[in-house]
Amino acid sequence: MENVAAIITGSSRGIGRATAIRLAQDGFKITVNYSQDRDGAEETVRMVEDHGSEAISVRADVSNPDDVTKLVEKTREEYEDLGVLVNNAGFSHHATLDELTHENWQKGIDVNLTGAFNCAKAAAPEMKKLGWGRIVNISSLRAMTGSDHGSHYASSKAGILGLTKSLALELAPEITVNAISPGYTRTPMTKESLEEKEEQIASKIPLNRVAESPEIAGVISFLVSHDGSYITGETINANGGIYMTS
Ligand SMILES: NC(=O)c1ccc[n+]([C@@H]2O[C@H](COP(=O)([O-])OP(=O)(O)OC[C@H]3O[C@@H](n4cnc5c(N)ncnc54)[C@H](OP(=O)(O)O)[C@@H]3O)[C@@H](O)[C@H]2O)c1
Repeated sequence: MENVAAIITGSSRGIGRATAIRLAQDGFKITVNYSQDRDGAEETVRMVEDHGSEAISVRADVSNPDDVTKLVEKTREEYEDLGVLVNNAGFSHHATLDELTHENWQKGIDVNLTGAFNCAKAAAPEMKKLGWGRIVNISSLRAMTGSDHGSHYASSKAGILGLTKSLALELAPEITVNAISPGYTRTPMTKESLEEKEEQIASKIPLNRVAESPEIAGVISFLVSHDGSYITGETINANGGIYMTS
């Protein structure tokens, strides 16, 4: 697809940035989204340009429907056709049930789950106009295993799987909707825990290491590509096999 735009939410760093670079290599124009990290977003724009594509950065809090409307509008103003949405923006912090405030519970759901809904709702009409679309939602290993220090995170990521199947049914046949559930991936989100106990984490993973962000971006690229054209409503677990051992 030439001259088609891809919005990647939360692409100022981590998996989102790697995805922006990968989809740029695949020939898409990129909208880099962030809510706070403007410098990181500008850096991603430069990296996309270095890989021979075009990018704009747009600040939008995905949990805010008005921001998301503007995110899609700015993409449309810059690039005519919007064909790809990667719902990657995510928020996580460690808190047990005792520690978790209602505010943080709500933030987890608002950003990780409602954010994906907001973006799909705003982007799908553009994809329908184009007659082609791909939505990839980033879930997590925690959707299946749960978490003993982040029930808000695990619940929001489990919700993503229901949203994925529902939208896949609603938006077929023009638009496919799939999810990826990454396991431990080296990004700023996991920096602290990997610094503390990478060896211990890796020892529980059959592939004996954590993922690098481009490996997750590669799966996203596959789902967006022609090779992924007959897959919808599916979740791909990219976790080095840890699900089999936990
Ligand atoms: N790393 C892992 O091991 C792992 C495993 C499973 C799933 N995941 C999922 O993969 C996705 C990316 O994770 P990551 O590890 O790359 O995280 P990260 O390094 O912390 O990056 C998160 C990105 O999301 C953006 N973001 C956060 N809140 C936002 C909001 N309200 N609106 C718009 N953007 C927002 C951040 O930018 P700003 O700071 O500018 O907002 C940043 O660009 C997340 O959904 C995460 O849950 C990660």
